[in-house]
Amino acid sequence: MKVLVVGGAGYIGSHCVRQLRDAGHNPVVLDNLVFGHRQAVASDIPFYDFDLGDYDRVAQILKHEKIEIVMHFAAFAYVGESVTDPRKYYKNNLVATLRLLEAMLDNGVKKFVFSSTCATYGEPDTLPMLESLPQAPINPYGQTKLDVENCLKAFSQAYGLSFAAFRYFNAAGAAQDGSIGEDHNPETHLIPLVFDAATGRRENIKIFGTDYSTPDGTCLRDYVHVDDLSRAHIAVFDKLKQPSLGLFYNLGTGRPYSVREIINAVQEVTGLNVPFVEVDRRAGDPPALFADSTKAQKELGWQIQYTNIQSIIASAWKWHKSNPNGFSDS
Ligand code: UFG
Repeated sequence: MKVLVVGGAGYIGSHCVRQLRDAGHNPVVLDNLVFGHRQAVASDIPFYDFDLGDYDRVAQILKHEKIEIVMHFAAFAYVGESVTDPRKYYKNNLVATLRLLEAMLDNGVKKFVFSSTCATYGEPDTLPMLESLPQAPINPYGQTKLDVENCLKAFSQAYGLSFAAFRYFNAAGAAQDGSIGEDHNPETHLIPLVFDAATGRRENIKIFGTDYSTPDGTCLRDYVHVDDLSRAHIAVFDKLKQPSLGLFYNLGTGRPYSVREIINAVQEVTGLNVPFVEVDRRAGDPPALFADSTKAQKELGWQIQYTNIQSIIASAWKWHKSNPNGFSDS
């Protein structure tokens, strides 16, 4: 398949581009490089660096590259910032995505794979989380992702679009060969920050809240490897041949880990001591989020290869150890 990967130079997108190529597909990358890294994509893959909301240029690529399917990873994803600057999130995550979809429909491209999030559920009443749970996001980031999901449903019925929306839990890890990995600026995610505390690049890791109603008082999350996430995106291609299909899948391992367990696992994998301090809760953090991904397993044959947190952390560590400053080291 000729696949346009929007946000293909970002963390999850760049891992997916690799897998697409390994699986014999032809990826073409569109990334405005606001958060993406040019070095994350092999130099012989067609690369366009402009904004996904640029209707005319997107339409041109779709025609020129004879694109059959679009995967969309490009989004602003800082939950806290989405609360203080929601305009930025609605503009990029919703309005620009609508422009992309318009360019697709106007050019007869009717297959779409969308990066959604477990943040569309808000604070779940039941765990593990099934796709059928009510969706009630508690921040603009989650809301913009849900708004796109709703657009996709309507576009599918009205215009024959076939789509899959994957609701990710906590993406983690890095390519097995250590050549690409996570590089956010600023970094807010737990595992890379714990590495920085282990290596002395930061004084300590702050544990946000120790009084949650969880076994050790810290938040539980479902960390799922980026390569496992990517595999699901490719496994859905066959299904999207059917017109007007709308699919939603949770992607997580189903095994939650607490913040303390992550710190311990990093110590175990790296052999380094991790200094930590316990601080107040971070606003907007639900106590526990973990997936029931049975639907993806049954319908897509999705099999998780990184089944334990040590293997996920080991892959992330291989990247981080050699590239403590991310892609500026490579
Ligand atoms: N945490 C700390 N200290 C830190 C950073 C994080 O204790 O310095 C804790 C958080 O409180 C949370 C856990 O570690 O309990 C994981 O935090 P991350 O920031 O790594 O990830 P989140 O669970 O907050 O966010 C992820 C995605 C978001 C998505 C969200 C859905 O990164 O894009 O899941 O809930 F919106």
